[in-house]
Amino acid sequence: MERVKCDVLVVGAGGAGLRAAISAAEAGAQVALVSKSLLGKAHTVMAEGGIAAALGNMDERDNWKVHFRDTIRGGKGLCNWEMAKLHAEQSPERVRELERWGAVFDRTPDGRINQRNFGGHRFPRLAHVGDRTGLEIIRTLQDHVIHIDEVALHMETTVTRLLKSGNRVTGALAYRRTDGELMLFAAGAVILATGGIGKAYRVTSNSWEYTGDGHALAYLAGADLVDMEFVQFHPTGMVWPPSVKGTLVTEGVRGEGGVLLNSEGERFMFNYIPEAFAAETARDEAEADAWGRGEEGAMRPPELLTRDVVARAIMDEVKAGRGSPRGGVFLDIASRRDADYIRRKLPSMYHQFKELAGLDITQEPMQVGPTTHYMMGGVRVDPASGVSTVTGLYAAGEAAAGMHGANRLGGNSLSDLLVFGNLSGQAAATYAASSDRLPPAGEEVEAARVAALVPFEAGDENPYHLHQELQEIMEAHVGIVREGVKLEAGIAKLEALQVRLEAQHASGGRTYNPGWHLCLDLHNMILTSLAVARAGLERTESRGAHTRLDFPDYDEELGQVNLVIRQSADGMVVVRAPLAEMPAELAEIVAREAV
Ligand code: FUM
Repeated sequence: MERVKCDVLVVGAGGAGLRAAISAAEAGAQVALVSKSLLGKAHTVMAEGGIAAALGNMDERDNWKVHFRDTIRGGKGLCNWEMAKLHAEQSPERVRELERWGAVFDRTPDGRINQRNFGGHRFPRLAHVGDRTGLEIIRTLQDHVIHIDEVALHMETTVTRLLKSGNRVTGALAYRRTDGELMLFAAGAVILATGGIGKAYRVTSNSWEYTGDGHALAYLAGADLVDMEFVQFHPTGMVWPPSVKGTLVTEGVRGEGGVLLNSEGERFMFNYIPEAFAAETARDEAEADAWGRGEEGAMRPPELLTRDVVARAIMDEVKAGRGSPRGGVFLDIASRRDADYIRRKLPSMYHQFKELAGLDITQEPMQVGPTTHYMMGGVRVDPASGVSTVTGLYAAGEAAAGMHGANRLGGNSLSDLLVFGNLSGQAAATYAASSDRLPPAGEEVEAARVAALVPFEAGDENPYHLHQELQEIMEAHVGIVREGVKLEAGIAKLEALQVRLEAQHASGGRTYNPGWHLCLDLHNMILTSLAVARAGLERTESRGAHTRLDFPDYDEELGQVNLVIRQSADGMVVVRAPLAEMPAELAEIVAREAV
């Protein structure tokens, strides 16, 4: 077994992990940065349309307070207000810092960073690089990180278990894909930046790495998870051809003026405008006149309602028989913008549809439908430091929770991972420098080693079949719309599947063996799925991304609590945790009609 010592172990090398590693190293730590995949291949790239930051370049009324308000409202009141405030305040500086590090954002004619409209953001707020913003951010961060001597990169390495000494997390066990070698990391602190859980679902924008690893590692180490019932279904994924179903179609298409149409050619989103938004839209019309109208006339088209609303609307249209031939709806930008504009502002979408679907989006509408995209739930953390409820364990980015409440606004994930990657990196390095070093307990290491190799022992369950069953269960029982009886049945099926994991079998050796890797990933996916389903059953209301057919309205009492998932002597339990009280001056900002 190979042994690595470091001050801070960062698990995951997407945007949050890279940003955390940079800050931890700047704070003086020796950092081991572990990537399950190759450097640069991260779900961060799938945040294509932009990074939300109140730079105020396109509308001088924008500032952190408006961004804070939009985030809390978008999260339907369940966001951790301290995280939302830190995020809104610090995002602009994180964007400017990226620019100093070499990120090339699109510019306004007078040379400022250009910003586009996105769902739920009151003003054009998303700094962008065409529709490749996440890619540019990853490129910039990785260019930066590889020049830092204090960061040692371990690619194609998967952490299978966190290791403790007493009640502190002090390391992790991992395997290296390339040769199957086990690796023991001894660390002063560990930061989880492992992303989401998309692969528990069949239709997803996530690739194979996103199996809820950080969520499961934290839970098993005794940490609290929170908001697990809230899974974001992005409204627009490709629906055709089947091989690419779920691939993201950026919200930037709608941000650039694209509209959603049903089979009758109707802009159906007008039928789904919530009352409060209708009032705001009317006011925006008046304000648009006062401030000068945007190119499109009205400032806030209903296609830019929050993702939860748009995803459900698309589903309802399809159910009502007004869907497109491939089971989605139409997304039309061809008739709204000229071909040059589309190719310039949405180059990836142009190529994606041309190459994968044989369709020219400058001439024809796309067919799109909801796709599992982002996990609002994750490790419960302290807002300013990212420390979990277990000493020595931190989390940032999608693996952490609190910031987005019941629904995340598009573009807020990129700024989230920079703001909280930075803060958690600093905090973990400071903690590691001040704490005495304890090696992971020997019996923990041995138990983790044995568990990692169990799939090579005799068993008759095929992990690929189990994975397929898991995805079917999640789609049928814990999808966009849910119901108590279905959730209960889903939980029973997931529990049965969890038992069958013990008989999984991986054939072949340890070098590049994806069957073995899937056996281990499935433990994380099923555990995380159970957390989603159990929290979903407990939240007997509809709020944000969580829709209960049997409880279609908000519940006042549940609007005052987050749901925490934790281990107990009886197994996994769901506990209600009251929201932290928001200071009056912030509550006033959130309540204010116009900012
Ligand atoms: O649609 C998009 O470009 C995705 C952005 C996000 O999830 O933040």
